Amino acid sequence: MTSIRSSRLALRSLLFVPGNRESMLRKAAGARPDVFVPDLEDSVPAAEKANARETVERLVGMIAATGRPVFPRLNGIDTIWLEDDARALIGPDVTGVSVGKIRTPDDIRRIDALLADAERASGLPVGRTRLIPWIETAAAVLDALRIATASPRVVALAFGAEDLTLDMGIRRSSDDSEVSVARSLTCLAAAAAGVPALDTPFFAFRDDAALERNAEASKRIGFRGKFAIHPDQLATIQRVFSPSPEELEEARKVIAAFEEAAREGRGSTSLEGRVVDVPVVERARALIASASNGPEVDG
Ligand code: COA
Ligand code: MG
Repeated sequence: MTSIRSSRLALRSLLFVPGNRESMLRKAAGARPDVFVPDLEDSVPAAEKANARETVERLVGMIAATGRPVFPRLNGIDTIWLEDDARALIGPDVTGVSVGKIRTPDDIRRIDALLADAERASGLPVGRTRLIPWIETAAAVLDALRIATASPRVVALAFGAEDLTLDMGIRRSSDDSEVSVARSLTCLAAAAAGVPALDTPFFAFRDDAALERNAEASKRIGFRGKFAIHPDQLATIQRVFSPSPEELEEARKVIAAFEEAAREGRGSTSLEGRVVDVPVVERARALIASASNGPEVDG
């Protein structure tokens, strides 16, 4: 089985908060996402970039005090802001950072070096800060596996549908059909790299039933979690990406049947008319392990 590098890092629900909105950052600290994502990038206008950086720097300790990881989204590699963002925010309260509009594995290596500089400047061990790259350019989708493996800092791939459709010059639709291949390629690359794939936010934030359908569809093709843009989306996302009591019960039955067969010297058996063999029991074990994921991070 592939080892998931971030196995102790739960990444089911990730809450975006615009970094220049102090009241929202304070409010966010009362929410219960697996991960907080204070945003310095596209929810912050150019004139507000410095204010957002300063506001997040000042409040990140308060957010980290919830015990949940904080992964600020920094400005992209081709902007004038990225270096200052990293220098201001890298520190003990920041588990990792997220960076949008990645194009190549070399982008990851450049960010890696920049984070190493910021870590040295803050007296932190080099390599401590994790990285979640956004796969949201055509180039990145086609090179997602090499991007995911370009640095051991990478703990997940985030898929961004809005920027991808912009990059491709196509219209964004509500059924995701125009990004279905890119979504699957991102999930395949993440699985091959042994990291979770995280899905693009769902913008119709008042429509819970539509969010649930959207998240279920994501989960079916391999996404392990999803970004939220509003705290009201967290419960649905958390529920969809957590195993249900029925799934857990089924997994326990599969494991019990397999172990009983193993005691009798058999490598496969059946349960209610279906074969239970090694991959089936491994999937059941992975499901149970995923249920006990906590927000703790190792290292
Ligand atoms: N984080 C923290 N608090 C949030 C929030 C978020 N992402 N989204 C909304 N809230 C707060 C609001 O400030 C409001 O607080 P209040 O009751 O103290 O006034 C409360 O939750 C209810 O908000 P609501 O009135 O339902 O929504 P809104 O119209 O204020 O905000 C958005 C809607 C879409 C503008 C807002 O959710 C938002 O900015 N989301 C983040 C967008 C983002 O980060 N985009 C970048 C990634 S694509
Ligand atoms: Mg984007």
